[in-house]
Amino acid sequence: MDGRKRNAELDGVAETTLWTLHHRALAARNPGSALTDPKAIEVIDAVDYPFERRFGTGNWGFAQGMAVRARCYDREVRRFLKDHPDGTVVSLGEGLETQFWRVDNGRVRWLGVDLPEVAELRRRLLPDAPRHRTLPCSATDSRWMDEVDASRGVLIIAQGMLMYLPLDVVHRLIEACAARFPGAEFVFDTPPAWMAARTARGRWKYPAGYRPPPMLWGMTPAHRRGLHAVHPNIAAVRAVREPRGRGFLCGWLLPLAGLLPAIRARKPLWVTRVSFGLTEHHQGVNR
Ligand SMILES: C[S@@+](CC[C@H](N)C(=O)[O-])C[C@H]1O[C@@H](n2cnc3c(N)ncnc32)[C@H](O)[C@@H]1O
Repeated sequence: MDGRKRNAELDGVAETTLWTLHHRALAARNPGSALTDPKAIEVIDAVDYPFERRFGTGNWGFAQGMAVRARCYDREVRRFLKDHPDGTVVSLGEGLETQFWRVDNGRVRWLGVDLPEVAELRRRLLPDAPRHRTLPCSATDSRWMDEVDASRGVLIIAQGMLMYLPLDVVHRLIEACAARFPGAEFVFDTPPAWMAARTARGRWKYPAGYRPPPMLWGMTPAHRRGLHAVHPNIAAVRAVREPRGRGFLCGWLLPLAGLLPAIRARKPLWVTRVSFGLTEHHQGVNR
């Protein structure tokens, strides 16, 4: 990066990318954290935006939570690249995530998709390169699908995004992906229903006045089971277990919450992997 600051004027759901960057960079700056991400620090230092005034000087719990979530996605991408080293990763709502630099195997092709105002900022900070590019396009617009080379495997990820879309729109997106990318996987995270309800009531507010936009839905075990019915080509829906973080909250409480049915529904992070089967036509083609 050239030392110049890029102005970031985002609001609403687009601004949430600065919130996640703030907390991920906070985790990355701390040597005791579980996340190594020097690029996130480089990016945040190049953005002209009052991070501390808007989001506070640092909530260590959120920072650890973002570190665990990022590492969970990194593990999913690495798992995919082991089987498909030349595959394509599509990151919906990629914002200012620097995951490409954490997991790059030198061969993966990467397509980031985000709303035009965020994609434009991302391209100024992280310009397109031969194996990594950003498309200004809503995740709900099928235009991005035309840009995906599916010949060597596809992994679609949506980190911290689907909760900002209505649930029926999410179902239509998963349905479209299942039809368009047989054999691919879709990994996404959602908050629990109680947390989404809290943002919807405007209960989550920062002293400086920042109020995160409402999360429109939260995951429940019934929701997750219901995903099977979204498209006949959905072969499996699995809960992804988060990697262990640091400290009491993310090192002990979060993993424990996943094991105890009585408190599982209150877990702050739910990561789900949906696998699409190969249709008869594609099985024939691949034989
Ligand atoms: C909480 S941020 C997460 C950003 C990034 N994935 C991360 O984890 O740091 C949510 C992102 O979703 C993007 N987003 C929201 N609605 C979208 C849509 N319909 N299409 C594409 N991106 C969207 C926002 O612009 C924002 O960048």
